[in-house]
Amino acid sequence: AKERTLSIIKPDATRRNLTGKINAKFEDAGLRIVAQRRVWLSADQAGKFYAVHKERPFYNDLVKFMTSGPVVVQVLEGENAVAKNREVMGATNPANAAAGTIRKEFAESIEANSVHGSDSAENAAIEIAFFFAGVDIVG
Ligand code: CMP
Repeated sequence: AKERTLSIIKPDATRRNLTGKINAKFEDAGLRIVAQRRVWLSADQAGKFYAVHKERPFYNDLVKFMTSGPVVVQVLEGENAVAKNREVMGATNPANAAAGTIRKEFAESIEANSVHGSDSAENAAIEIAFFFAGVDIVG
């Protein structure tokens, strides 16, 4: 079914001017960018977005990293968008990511892994609402 998912192009990727190359990967896979905004997150915003990871040992570093430069937040739409986006991104750790995936080609480390994507349709709805009003998503 047609779905939407929340994607973030992370500071390691915007710093290296990779937004267009990453967007091309999404579009080549049949995902449509139906909303997109460049933003420099505050620690409060990044901490809230990643609240599910609050107890993980990497949480503080993750918030620091995600506020180290601009990110591009976007809504991707398409058939099975959540799973398709995860396929295109590749494994969280670039060392385990398949050839041709965004993280294999671009990620610097398990933390600076270039992109975030929602892990379920349920979380996609929550994460999309965190960044976008319905009126700003144009399918
Ligand atoms: P993301 O898919 O955005 O979800 C949580 C993020 O935490 C992850 O990508 C990485 O950027 C970061 N991270 C850092 N260390 C780890 C780790 N050991 N396991 C999972 N995620 C990590």
